Amino acid sequence: MSNILEINHITIKYGKSIAVAGISLKIPEGGIVTLIGSNGAGKSTTLNATLGMVPLTDGSLTFQGEDITNISTAERVKKGLALVPEGRHLFPYLSVYKNLLLGATQRTDKQGIAEDLEFVYNLFPKLKDRSKQKAGTLSGGEQQMVAIARGIMSNPKLLCLDEPSLGLAPVVIEDVGRKIKEINQKRGTSILLVEQNVHLAFGVAAYCYTLQVGKLVAEGPIDEIREKDAVRKAYFGG
Ligand SMILES: Nc1ncnc2c1ncn2[C@@H]1O[C@H](COP(=O)(O)OP(=O)(O)O)[C@@H](O)[C@H]1O
Ligand SMILES: [Mg+2]
Repeated sequence: MSNILEINHITIKYGKSIAVAGISLKIPEGGIVTLIGSNGAGKSTTLNATLGMVPLTDGSLTFQGEDITNISTAERVKKGLALVPEGRHLFPYLSVYKNLLLGATQRTDKQGIAEDLEFVYNLFPKLKDRSKQKAGTLSGGEQQMVAIARGIMSNPKLLCLDEPSLGLAPVVIEDVGRKIKEINQKRGTSILLVEQNVHLAFGVAAYCYTLQVGKLVAEGPIDEIREKDAVRKAYFGG
């Protein structure tokens, strides 16, 4: 299977401090991969650098076999990368509909935009009901749905999600997990899910990378990690 994205030995510094130290990740075409780690591990830095919003100090990025290390964020979005940022970053005083359209600003295919709008309204019927409502008046869970839907509006091949569970109640997090799977299954969109919520990450992804203070400390298929976890629990009781 070919990889849609390859992150090759990237290092990212803020001034003199190293946030990400020579990490490599592969996202298979059509797959769901998660990058987990605690606060400050370097998860957002990695995603933001993948989108070209934070410069790499070292390393490279390959998207669909093409080196994208030195192209702009807008060009990366045109090629099929999208980010649902940490904390949603909606325009609270704009309607849901207008927030959604902001995801399609790099596109010119009107027909495709209309189809994708229909797709996200089918995926999140509540957003259709509230399309004219100001985004800032929605619940946290609904705002996360708007952020994800806006990401889909660029018709990405790879959707990067930065901690979609942040600040949401467990039942809402379950729902977010189901929607992420549905996007992957119905559109074939590859997913890179950054999370601190291991329950959500393991419920959705097939492969996991674990980041600790800027370094990858573990990786493997979710099934294997689960098995190890079950063994650990059986022997050590926790
Ligand atoms: N804009 C920035 N300037 C300086 N340091 C930053 C900046 N953004 C993040 N950092 C630092 O980089 C490290 C990784 O942060 P981040 O990528 O946000 O981690 P995570 O998303 O895993 O919580 C942290 O030590 C954080 O304080
Ligand atoms: Mg973060």
